[in-house]
Amino acid sequence: MVTWVLHYLLVAFLIAISYNIDAASAGITRHYQFDIQLKNITRLCKTKTIVTVNGKFPGPKVTAREGDNLQIKVVNHVSNNISIHWHGIRQLRSGWADGPSYVTQCPIRTGQSYVYNFTVTGQRGTLWWHAHIQWMRATVYGPLIILPKLHQPYPFPKPYKQVPIIFGEWFNADPQAVLQQALQTGAGPNASDAHTFNGLPGPLYNCSTKDTYKLMVKPGKTYLLRLINAALNDELFFTIANHTLTVVEADACYVKPFQTNTVLLGPGQTTNVLLKTKPIYPNATFYMLARPYFTGQGTIDNTTVAGILQYHHHSKSSKNLSIIKPSLPPINSTSYAANFTKMFRSLASSTFPVNVPKTVDKKYFFTVGLGTNPCPKNQTCQGPTNATKFAASINNVSFILPDKTSLLQSYFVGKSNNVFMTDFPTAPFFPFNYTGTPPNNTMVSRGTKVVVLKYNTTVELVLQGTSILGIEAHPVHLHGFNFYVVGQGFGNFNPARDPKQYNLVDPVERNTINVPSGGWVAIRFLADNPGVWLMHCHIEIHLSWGLTMAWVVLDGDLPNQKLLPPPSDFPKC
Ligand code: C2O
Repeated sequence: MVTWVLHYLLVAFLIAISYNIDAASAGITRHYQFDIQLKNITRLCKTKTIVTVNGKFPGPKVTAREGDNLQIKVVNHVSNNISIHWHGIRQLRSGWADGPSYVTQCPIRTGQSYVYNFTVTGQRGTLWWHAHIQWMRATVYGPLIILPKLHQPYPFPKPYKQVPIIFGEWFNADPQAVLQQALQTGAGPNASDAHTFNGLPGPLYNCSTKDTYKLMVKPGKTYLLRLINAALNDELFFTIANHTLTVVEADACYVKPFQTNTVLLGPGQTTNVLLKTKPIYPNATFYMLARPYFTGQGTIDNTTVAGILQYHHHSKSSKNLSIIKPSLPPINSTSYAANFTKMFRSLASSTFPVNVPKTVDKKYFFTVGLGTNPCPKNQTCQGPTNATKFAASINNVSFILPDKTSLLQSYFVGKSNNVFMTDFPTAPFFPFNYTGTPPNNTMVSRGTKVVVLKYNTTVELVLQGTSILGIEAHPVHLHGFNFYVVGQGFGNFNPARDPKQYNLVDPVERNTINVPSGGWVAIRFLADNPGVWLMHCHIEIHLSWGLTMAWVVLDGDLPNQKLLPPPSDFPKC
């Protein structure tokens, strides 16, 4: 009898152990529900109705651990079509859950729902999610935090607290209407009215002192700030008065820690910084500020969002405390941007090694920049001239999204013929002095063209900015992959000289990289994820103007190298 009981306990114990080991390595399933719904919200003295997730602005924080499976049911209760992109998630073989409308799925229509089902593999850090159709992401966005596996430490001092700060752009008008007007007239879009921290514009704007983001801290502690730039169109400098920040991660990849007073994030980029608070209570509070970096020719919102860093005081009332204001680099400080970008290096440790491709199977050279489309007959436009509309392109191809199906569906069922072409140019058709005097003809061509890659191809891609209609930085985002940034520079890329300077030792790994204003950047990645993957400038108006293309990565031979079939509730086109 006793032996039976002991035996039973032993078996139960062993089952428990193996279950825990399994749970620690394989992760758990986490369920979320996103109800897309309208919400009235007041900012800058004006009340308006916005599209939200679960009535929240910014949207809810999604948290997972590395190895977890996420199942997020999105239910659309509004009249707009919607789809959600999990920005930076690799989506290994699960491209059906990536989210860009008409690329990996048709949008979720009113009254319909779709469960985004994916597993977080080999990633940990700060990412985010956002709507991926037209300009819906102006209000539909939120943090996506991936914690390390249980008992796996950070490669930096354990923070006392972690705080997401998500930068946004607020429009008094309906962002969709701003987009429609811009596309209709051919002009640059109306600028936003404010920038925000966690949805709050702060005291430098009308009526907004009560809408100020406040970070309350204790002295002598280390805080992990998870910075996310969710702004539509603006790259942003961020700083906190009298405090130094230590950068430890970018786009959910650890970096060699470095100190800075000001960080720069392009739309789409995320950066984790450690904030060490002062050892004793200071007699002041501190502004944190964000304001654009911009070198283009259009008008943008150059206003400043302010938040407050305040120490918990036991004795003194904070009313008497002075506010210390930091300064930011000049709005067009390309030299600051370049020096800052060069500080990023991979951790390159044994736990987090660099897997940059040392040899390259395929090389591509893409120009990225602005251009023009002709103004329709009998219309006067407000583009660079009144006979043209603004456009944008890669290798002079301005991308047209399909509108009746998605690229991934048409690829999967083998019916790509009428949907996309596979002849995306590997280099410019007409080479020119890209960063010199621009050519007289600035017209773009239009098409739905992709590059097809065999499974496991190693790719090197040089992204070359152009001076057409002005030099400007382009934060280029690649879906489905991280890439390594092996080189960058100003002027025209020189294939004889520049590759000799490539960093193949500790290049930073990311999913969104700034193509410098008037310069180029070189990246490398391994095409080990079958599917259709969008690559685009994350400045939303540039994307709307066509600064995007897609990579089709074919299945490999082995069963685990193939795209999985679409889920049964996949939104029909
Ligand atoms: Cu964060 Cu295609 O987007």
